[in-house]
Amino acid sequence: MPYMKNWKRYTVTAALPYANGPVHIGHLAGCYLPSDIYVRYLRANKRDVLFVCGSDEHGVPITIKARKEGVSPQQIVDKYHEIMKQSFVDFGISFSIYSRTSSKTHHETASAFFKKMYDEGKFIEQETDQYYDEEVNQFLADRYIVGTCPKCGNENAYGDQCEKCGTSLSPTDLINPHSTLSGAKPVLRKTKNWFLPLDKLQPHIKAYLDEHKDWKVNVYGQCKSWLETGDGLQPRSMTRDLDWGIPVPVAGAEGKVLYVWFDAPIGYISNSIELLPNDWEKYWKDKDTRLIHFIGKDNIVFHCIIFPAMLMEHGEFIVADNVPANEFLNLEGDKISTSRNWAVWLHEYLEAFKDKQDELRYVLTSIAPETKDSEFTWKDYQARVNNELVAILGNLVNRVMVLTDKYFEGNVPDTKGCDDLQKFITEQREKVTQSIEEFRFREALSEVINVARHGNQLLSEKEPWKLIKTDKEQTGVILYDCLQIIANLGILCEPFLPFTSKKIFDMLQLDATAFSWKDIGRQDLVPAGHQLGKAALLYQKVEDEIIDAQIAKLQQTKAMSAPTPEPVKAEPTAKAEITYDDFAKLDLRAGTIIAAEKVEKADKLLKLTVDLGSETRTIVSGIAAHFAPEAIVGFQVCVVANLASRKLRGIESKGMILMADTADGKLEFVSPKNLTANGSMIS
Ligand code: MF3
Ligand code: ZN
Repeated sequence: MPYMKNWKRYTVTAALPYANGPVHIGHLAGCYLPSDIYVRYLRANKRDVLFVCGSDEHGVPITIKARKEGVSPQQIVDKYHEIMKQSFVDFGISFSIYSRTSSKTHHETASAFFKKMYDEGKFIEQETDQYYDEEVNQFLADRYIVGTCPKCGNENAYGDQCEKCGTSLSPTDLINPHSTLSGAKPVLRKTKNWFLPLDKLQPHIKAYLDEHKDWKVNVYGQCKSWLETGDGLQPRSMTRDLDWGIPVPVAGAEGKVLYVWFDAPIGYISNSIELLPNDWEKYWKDKDTRLIHFIGKDNIVFHCIIFPAMLMEHGEFIVADNVPANEFLNLEGDKISTSRNWAVWLHEYLEAFKDKQDELRYVLTSIAPETKDSEFTWKDYQARVNNELVAILGNLVNRVMVLTDKYFEGNVPDTKGCDDLQKFITEQREKVTQSIEEFRFREALSEVINVARHGNQLLSEKEPWKLIKTDKEQTGVILYDCLQIIANLGILCEPFLPFTSKKIFDMLQLDATAFSWKDIGRQDLVPAGHQLGKAALLYQKVEDEIIDAQIAKLQQTKAMSAPTPEPVKAEPTAKAEITYDDFAKLDLRAGTIIAAEKVEKADKLLKLTVDLGSETRTIVSGIAAHFAPEAIVGFQVCVVANLASRKLRGIESKGMILMADTADGKLEFVSPKNLTANGSMIS
């Protein structure tokens, strides 16, 4: 196993995310959590490690987003770079550096990289026919062009890649291509570009892959199939006729930029240089450095074939020893999608679940798509937090702290404990170690929880709360052991749950930096006589209402992005004309339903509690036949806020909710298309 080798140091990269939207749970589960766990584990083992990431700010995904929002690409990357960077900080993703590909260092590094290869004749300069959109006067590269994938028949394959089957493509491979800018059928025009002759490099790539048969099967298998299907690897252009990116640094290339998949991975190197201007080289040039790329499955071809080929041809750098790519995480039965807003955004999660980063880290690691696509649902989130974090880990820590406080005034009992604890915890450490080394983080985390389970078993078998009445000494032995389990858990859980680990060490009044991975198994981490701190709850139970509100929010997203139905034959307008002044008398506001319940003995009525920003209202609404109360909590609606109040079934109703009839005889809320602040005026 390569991890057995005595590596001198590690360079760990996490895919540079496009700066075209905030970070969501799919990003975290796919790439950033696994890499962070791995790096934290290496650091706990006192390994020398550089952990590199940053925003990918070039390429068509950025310019498309800019067009959509009607702003410049620069404005897009400036906005999202900051949001993404903050989310990573908030969730404890412990990058050594998080920079961006618009940095000066990166522009210089990527240009120099290209220039060296160019000067050494590593590219083929070639004039080829490329698709051009005559309506917008632009060449159509990458995501500016879509068509049918020649390999799997997916009708929405991009010009550079089919996201369904992973194949890397050229625009001219697409069947039925059309422009995503204008929808036009593109024409062919001649243009000059610089190609990396992957066909000629295939033997080197093959030899490289053959040395790495230990890679995850999903990764190795995909790479092999590219080499083996059809004519094998094809030359690939490393430049583009676009105006957003790093200018191609050679004469005669005006108006052309580097292909985003040429410049972005060089960003790993540039960001290392930015962090360690005098000391970066050993992380990229020394054969004893282990380079590992954490990515999602759509990035496999770029990290396992194209980037290694670039690095080999450049000549000065090491190539990856492993590329542990994950599959995709789905959300409540659907593919996560930034454009359809089908996601749980990290910054929004933190608004609803303040200080609950480890809860999300825990759930996402437990369900990480390591070998196949997996699924996040809110009900599962609730169950895992309540049944595992709260009931096992949180419960153990709390009980032991409280009992020690009660029976021993918070002093660690004076004993050495009972001796099979050492053996058990050391075995667990070895299991967790092996799972992490082999990139099976789900399995590793479940072995961590098993240590806490063991502590709970000890408590329920020995019942110190009964034993104390007859045998204080033996009670002390049990609590001593439980305290050692907790301290060991503090080290063991740190890669996965860094916030929890910190809380545990705070409670135990121990200095976390004094311990390393090899200390796991020790039965004297908290010494006899040591004074403990105060017990604090690690986690809180997640209540149904909180989960229902999240589900309702997603339902609302779905309802909003559903296709508009056929126009209904509405009754001709029948009400008498009103003046503008009549209309202006209405005070319409946005508000969110925060609670709903049936009104007793009234089939049609629901009693709603609506958050109007500055106040909370009770509104009785005749919609009970159409909606279950629990399904509408979290919906934002339009409220007639100045309607005279009236009593319905003894309940004072203040205001009214606007509803629309639908074609099939149902009712829908009239809701702002994008959520707005409660209390916002509607006019
Ligand atoms: N921005 C790409 C994506 O989100 C990943 C780039 S990884 C790098 O899919 F290697 F190019 F940096
Ligand atoms: Zn395909």
